[in-house]
Amino acid sequence: QWTTSSIVDEQVTRIRAQIGDGKAICGLSGGVDSAVAAALVQRAIGDRLTCVFVDHGLLRAGERAQVERDYVAATGINLVTVDARERFLNALAGVTDPEEKRKIIGREFIRVFEQAERDLKAEGDYRFLVQGTLYPDVVESGGGAGTANIKSHHNVGGLPDDLQFELVEPLRALFKDEVRRVGTELGLPETIVQRQPFPGPGLGIRIIGAVDQERLDTLRQADAIAREELTAAGLDRTIWQCPVVLLADVRSVGVQGDGRTYGHPIVLRPVSSEDAMTADWTRLPYEVLERISTRITNEVAEVNRVVLDVTSKPPGTIEWE
Ligand code: XMP
Repeated sequence: QWTTSSIVDEQVTRIRAQIGDGKAICGLSGGVDSAVAAALVQRAIGDRLTCVFVDHGLLRAGERAQVERDYVAATGINLVTVDARERFLNALAGVTDPEEKRKIIGREFIRVFEQAERDLKAEGDYRFLVQGTLYPDVVESGGGAGTANIKSHHNVGGLPDDLQFELVEPLRALFKDEVRRVGTELGLPETIVQRQPFPGPGLGIRIIGAVDQERLDTLRQADAIAREELTAAGLDRTIWQCPVVLLADVRSVGVQGDGRTYGHPIVLRPVSSEDAMTADWTRLPYEVLERISTRITNEVAEVNRVVLDVTSKPPGTIEWE
């Protein structure tokens, strides 16, 4: 019987054998895979692991705290946070094309992360880089059936690395559900272990139009409300994910109190899926939709309309960009 605790024990033994008395770096994205990979390595080599978390300013409300506070509290991991918010905002200024945004975010991410690697290398003998590669990633990159590249996905994994690290990939034999069980076994917070998929480029590809600070703040507020209400309604496990999208270049007329408003629409995109390759729009209860809509239009100053995306994938993709 291949139990979760035997997976943990076996990986800890392997990691110790691989790293010896060396030091390792791991980039945290806020997602499940990197969090579990780092926790396994931390269990194996303790404070000879240092994690790097890049705040690119495109995170959702509370995500940085989830890593800096909850994850560190649960694991005792060494964490360096790089605050790169301004750098990303500057690099993205005026850019509207989705693929261009992805390229910029991916490029800046690598630059910031490599700088962090250099800084750490200057301090100590870091020779290992931990990555949260899963079994399906291994199979995919082994070049199975060619899939059309509709969107260039960037993730923390797969960073090109000119800094000569040896890779440590403790999740290479595991599927997502096993990774979640390992995370739970290691005592990681539920908010991280059960997190729904969230794209690497973050809110940057959920603002339709150019990204700026004010638009990010608006979207972040709306997204936080939608997530809060979906969680309160117990729908987190039912829904695969629910992108909340700001149509930043669209305005529509509304009325509030005695006044006319001219604000932006927010789109809710709840989807059900097995693997994100295909998806159906989730039939959310009307009461939940009503609460989300009422709260967003009342609480988020720039937004005066909430609309629901009822398109399956295909033909729509899950994200709007
Ligand atoms: P689409 O929009 O292509 O999304 O139907 C499928 C899944 O991939 C996620 N996604 C991304 N993930 N970088 C990522 O790491 C990206 O650029 C990216 N674009 C989409 C999306 O959230 C969904 O889970």
